[in-house]
Amino acid sequence: MTAVAVPSATYTNDRNHVFHSWSAQGALNPVVVTGGEGSWFWDENGKRYLDFSSQLVNVNIGHQHPKLVAAIQEQAGKLCTIAPFHANEARSEAARLIAELAPGDLNMVFFTNGGAEATDNAIRMSRIHTGRQKVLATYRSYHGATGGSIAVTGDPRRWASETGVSGIVHFWGPFEYRSNFYSSSPEEESARALAHLRETIMVEGASTIACIILESVVGTNGILVPPPGYLQGVRDICDEFGIVYIADEVMAGFGRCGEWFAVDHWDVTPDLITWAKGSNSGYLPIGGVIISDKISATFKDRQYPGGLTYSGHVLACASVVASINIFKEEGLIEYSRALGTDTIAPALAKLQDKHPSIGEVRGLGVFWALDLVSNRDTRKPLVPYNATGADAAPMSELVAACKQRGLWPFTHFNRLHIVPPINTPADEVLQGLEIIDEVLDLADAHYTG
Ligand SMILES: Cc1ncc(COP(=O)(O)O)c(C=O)c1O
Repeated sequence: MTAVAVPSATYTNDRNHVFHSWSAQGALNPVVVTGGEGSWFWDENGKRYLDFSSQLVNVNIGHQHPKLVAAIQEQAGKLCTIAPFHANEARSEAARLIAELAPGDLNMVFFTNGGAEATDNAIRMSRIHTGRQKVLATYRSYHGATGGSIAVTGDPRRWASETGVSGIVHFWGPFEYRSNFYSSSPEEESARALAHLRETIMVEGASTIACIILESVVGTNGILVPPPGYLQGVRDICDEFGIVYIADEVMAGFGRCGEWFAVDHWDVTPDLITWAKGSNSGYLPIGGVIISDKISATFKDRQYPGGLTYSGHVLACASVVASINIFKEEGLIEYSRALGTDTIAPALAKLQDKHPSIGEVRGLGVFWALDLVSNRDTRKPLVPYNATGADAAPMSELVAACKQRGLWPFTHFNRLHIVPPINTPADEVLQGLEIIDEVLDLADAHYTG
């Protein structure tokens, strides 16, 4: 007789009492995670996973970084929390460091608990600053799941929360591989996407538009690196029409793209930057908005009508300070950039030579996507847009095979993203890519080209 494994109390309590995000609760079978270190985590049975997802693309410096853990412990011994209206050393220092890293005159920081609230507050600031209401955002974007941030999100996660309230307009950003503009070069894609944005503004009425919110490099919706000139073109259009430019750097910032902020790659200065995830690798919840002088000035003598009990939470701020210092001491921005160019890009190019199902490889830093197709000529995605159930089977098989081999993948629609912690040693990245090499045979089996 084979012994039947008894579920642990943790598992049972989870299934009975924890209501999980984005899920049909009955369909879940969560792994019980008991520990992690560096780019690895493990479950209650001791099975280890190489974290090629950085959880939700946020654990940028890996699990349980000893200096980050120590800084949190030290702050916990001093003062765990204090209301947002007080000044506090950890909060002041986090704001000073972030402002120092941000481009141009982005000199003040409003702290939130995460990325979605950063989106909401950036939009609120832009509306009051301009006296206008409308928000422009791209399709193929994610900006969070609060009432406000889900409304500007440009992917199917918005559909169920649609309020029907007008004021948010979606447009197409650039994406050369699946161009909406019939472009045949990055330059053409950039120019045509900018022309499309300009026309959208024309027909919506520039005088009604408060802001344009853009992921600097689109994350979950495909790791879409903007073509040359696009972000500068958006900056110029915003200047021309008095529109606030919000760069959403929640996923792309803090080293993910091999720069402090992804906009640094193109030397572009937005009016507001939203940030969260990689700022402290998610050891505590935090995010925020970095604010340019002209927008801060709007609220110099006028009340800012927004706030959060945990804005500038002391423990979370201490972790941001420690994390930024770790980035600097360990040269992690440079490391991320080099890991991308010297290790990940060449290894993925080799995989593309070998596996017909890889239609395109794209990315930078430690932020890469394999766009999987069933036909390279037509670029037909390996699974349909937003597929579920049997339609998504080719991707589900791939995910299961990765996990079985001890690699925790990040997939979305027809794509496999390569997003381990940015300080993952090169040999561990290659070890993970060997597993991906093996499992891509499963995707190739669905290739019909
Ligand atoms: C680009 C982007 N913006 C905003 C968010 C929302 O952040 P949070 O989940 O911390 O609210 C996310 C989360 O994945 C994101 O990727």
